[in-house]
Amino acid sequence: MTDFESFKKQALQELLEWLRVPSISTLPEHKGDMERAAAYVRSALERAGMARTELIHRAEHPMVYGEWLGAPGKPTLLLYGHYDVQPPDPLDEWVSPPFEPQIRNDNIYARGATDDKGQTWILVKAVEWLMQRDGRLPVNVRFLIEGEEECGGEAVARYLSEKPAQLAADAAVICDSEMFAPGLPSICTGLRGIVYGELHVEGARQDLHSGVYGGAAPNPLMAIAEILTALKDRDGHILIPGFYDRVVEPAPAEMEAWARLPFNEKEYLEKEIGAKELTGEPGLTVFERTWARPTLEVHGIRGGFTGEGAKTVIPARAVAKISMRLVPEQQPEEAVQQLRAAVESATPRGVKAEFRLLHGAPASLVDPENPFVKQAAAAMEEVFGRKTVFIRSGGSIPIVGLFDEHLRIPSVLMGFGLPDDNLHAPNEKFHVPNFYSGIEAVTRYLERLGA
Ligand code: BES
Ligand code: MN
Repeated sequence: MTDFESFKKQALQELLEWLRVPSISTLPEHKGDMERAAAYVRSALERAGMARTELIHRAEHPMVYGEWLGAPGKPTLLLYGHYDVQPPDPLDEWVSPPFEPQIRNDNIYARGATDDKGQTWILVKAVEWLMQRDGRLPVNVRFLIEGEEECGGEAVARYLSEKPAQLAADAAVICDSEMFAPGLPSICTGLRGIVYGELHVEGARQDLHSGVYGGAAPNPLMAIAEILTALKDRDGHILIPGFYDRVVEPAPAEMEAWARLPFNEKEYLEKEIGAKELTGEPGLTVFERTWARPTLEVHGIRGGFTGEGAKTVIPARAVAKISMRLVPEQQPEEAVQQLRAAVESATPRGVKAEFRLLHGAPASLVDPENPFVKQAAAAMEEVFGRKTVFIRSGGSIPIVGLFDEHLRIPSVLMGFGLPDDNLHAPNEKFHVPNFYSGIEAVTRYLERLGA
């Protein structure tokens, strides 16, 4: 039998292999890579000693399932991760290519390194280590590793509502979030929800000469600009009627805990953001603005002439990709209705505007007093030698709300990413020591729950 140190090194090598597969769920041309990435993790689950594994096809990309239920009377954990990744563009900003993982300064650079192949690998390898060492596990486990998290796919939602019994568990464990600071063990207790879609705007029947018709013809790109500025003001306040009606403020105790977090706004601005100044609603802290307040963002605008040089044209149509992040109690369906109404009243003369929904998920909260959460905090404390902090994140993990709704179980969000890991951006990285500590922490967690 190998010792733990060589086991972890071997685990790292296997992770690098997995990271070579460009499993980009949102791009149809990567369908085959999605199948390969799923097959890779399935065989890893088999090698880890799962008694049964399965590829579940429900929508576009398969889900990978694995179970070992040989510890009667002990808790059952649902270990969740996702093998799909975000598109890697802009490619020329990567120091090494996104799907040719490279280790520099103790960091793995690759798309998916932290989000979420690296962190999913922590769960797989912690289980494999215990199995290899003891021939059994201290608790029962079911793995669910999906391939549509990054594109808001329906596969998991459909499966959970059809067959909740197949995934029956006492708690879910998810490694797909961040530590608040290097070396500071962190559990995420709140995520924002999301509504993502496209704003389609149509003007003239076809593109027009902007000199000949400018002044008389409607311009869909201008219309998009007008609509967007009517949706959100310069202070970051969303102008959609009724949008804030359900927003719940965090409890004073939670905000006091946030105020005690080691945070330097100037450093955050310079190191993480790299802009001239922060924006957003005045009078609120960065934590409130990013964790507890809804937002509206535009991700891309398509239309007209965007190549080098000059072309004088009034485009016939344009599209903006936009999303709203939601906080607890806001309902995605209601937010979409409110958005559509606001778009309608902001649409200028001469164009037709339509919001097409791509996906949505509500926000979620986890009770820090839940015994499964407390044990996780204690396990992380043992490994990192510091008290675990409870934080929220502005990101979304749609499965958390679904586990709550269909399985009635809490999700324990043990995160091992770092704030500067460049998720969804060029040069995504994962700190190798965090990968190793993650395996140790999850191992300790399972041992504690089985004791
Ligand atoms: N892991 C992230 C979310 C996250 C990031 C949680 C940092 C906590 C800290 C997740 O994979 C993600 O990016 N989700 C998407 C959701 C979506 C496309 C439905 C997101 O938030 O944009
Ligand atoms: Mn992500």
